Amino acid sequence: MRKKIIAGNWKMNKTPSETVALINELKPLVANDEVDVVFCVPAISLTKAIETAEGSNISIGAENMYFEESGAYTGEIAPNMLTDIGVKYVIIGHSERREYFAETDETVNKKVLKAFEHGITPIICCGESLTQREQGITIDWIRQQIKIAFLNVTSKQAKTAVIAYEPIWAIGTGKVATSAQAQEVCHAIRDCIAEIYDEATAEAIRIQYGGSVSAESAPELFAQPDIDGGLVGGASLKPDFGRIVNYNK
Ligand code: G3H
Repeated sequence: MRKKIIAGNWKMNKTPSETVALINELKPLVANDEVDVVFCVPAISLTKAIETAEGSNISIGAENMYFEESGAYTGEIAPNMLTDIGVKYVIIGHSERREYFAETDETVNKKVLKAFEHGITPIICCGESLTQREQGITIDWIRQQIKIAFLNVTSKQAKTAVIAYEPIWAIGTGKVATSAQAQEVCHAIRDCIAEIYDEATAEAIRIQYGGSVSAESAPELFAQPDIDGGLVGGASLKPDFGRIVNYNK
């Protein structure tokens, strides 16, 4: 039985002091030990977030990370900078990083390998555009993203990974995928993992859905057999996130 994992992706929102206030506000609302709760916040707020979340059930994640150890990479954040302050998760390959910051399946793979090397759990994003969905190539596209992201990742590592399936057309649009659409792709992702590794790895890996998840849509989405939680953008910045985390209550 896989434990659900519900993560907030704050994107480029909240200053460090606003982060402290929001975590303090959400802390009692997200107290549900039956699910893993992660807040992924901007890099500059990570330290404050970790201090504020201490003693609660909230783990803190980064929204990005570089794939080199150190060196002349102005503006980038190395994996050991994250582990040094207690960061447990990192979002890798979000569609916004791919669209605005030139991330590719290959850089995603390098970051995934580096995260595992440092004991950080990657939340690996994949998802199709509206055109790709309309062309009927969603599953082919997602399989390609997954196969490249997991190149040279061992089965032991893959079992601990989190995959976030986020159809690009559903992100920030209020247009949530139907639970059947989300389940179909999450199931295909699990099949793809079974093909790359084996059934045991496919059964262990956790697959989230992301894209306009709300307190209203969460219960049905998270009840699907291959959906193990969500990666939540807009709604993770509001008290509604408490209702999403407690979708089963
Ligand atoms: O990482 C989160 C996703 O991009 C979803 O964002 O819930 O605002 O649609 P959203």
